[in-house]
Amino acid sequence: MSATPETRHDARPPRPGAATTPEPVTLEHVFKSYGGTQVLHGITVEFAPGSVHGLVGENGAGKSTLMKILTGVERPNAGRILVGGREISVKSPADALHHQLSIISQELATVPARTVLENVFLGAWSSRGGLLRQGQDRRRFTELCERVGFQLDPDRQVGTLTIAEQQQVEILRAVSRGSRLIVMDEPTAVLTTSETQALLALIRRLAADGVIVILVSHFLEEVLAVCDTVTVLRDGRHILTEPAEQHTPDSLVAAMAGRSLELLFPELPELAEDAPVVLEARGLSRGQAV
Ligand SMILES: Nc1ncnc2c1ncn2[C@@H]1O[C@H](COP(=O)(O)OP(=O)(O)OP(=O)(O)O)[C@@H](O)[C@H]1O
Ligand SMILES: [Mg+2]
Repeated sequence: MSATPETRHDARPPRPGAATTPEPVTLEHVFKSYGGTQVLHGITVEFAPGSVHGLVGENGAGKSTLMKILTGVERPNAGRILVGGREISVKSPADALHHQLSIISQELATVPARTVLENVFLGAWSSRGGLLRQGQDRRRFTELCERVGFQLDPDRQVGTLTIAEQQQVEILRAVSRGSRLIVMDEPTAVLTTSETQALLALIRRLAADGVIVILVSHFLEEVLAVCDTVTVLRDGRHILTEPAEQHTPDSLVAAMAGRSLELLFPELPELAEDAPVVLEARGLSRGQAV
């Protein structure tokens, strides 16, 4: 890669939410082990531009690990990341940001002692503090908030915000960087019902602008309501990537568990009218219960 981290920070970030050329992002043959334990066994999956892509699987299936690899938080043992068919090098979160790949993790990454404005434009690891171009950044901040429909005070200290508001700060940061792909790992687990509805609506708007949104969630109805495509992982293996409309919560549960629902909850055969009586009881009682 030719650009150094310094030139990247100096490069003017794209206009708020300016769509980079919409291109597919692909993970190819991704392997990951921790110590002796293999947690990802050669995962290949393509994310289409402008789509909301659900990523589901049971606890420990490897969803977060795969998304951390996609966004430079973790390094794979093998495998490639491609944008528009060209391999990119993602060795750190800064590399991922350079390629407009962002993640909003289960563990939020805001700086509590800094203001909302600083958190949105500085990024957690940038050192541009003294050079903040206040006027310009405030205008961009207002534009951004209008675009995504958030009402945040730019001067509030982030540590005083609710979790939902801190999540909004991270979303603003990802959108302000012109992200082509935004991973949201269990974003609604910490939200109320109305906050969840607002976030799902925003996810759809981002996708309509060409962004790839990957939604990792245990709430299968929510996934099916908002996603175009759904990928199921099981024990670190890719099970399926299919249009969401082909699925129901039950079919996803079955794919996640690796057994058909019939095996999980076998259906009992219907009784024939003339079936012989094998047990008959009269006058059975047990207090109020029977
Ligand atoms: N830093 C780590 N060191 C060792 N093992 C890890 C580490 N991170 C994850 N694992 C293991 O890798 C496997 C996949 O974990 P991962 O967090 O990716 O699953 P997940 O699908 O996101 O699960 P959840 O739904 O619970 O968030 C698990 O067995 C987990 O214990
Ligand atoms: Mg996880």
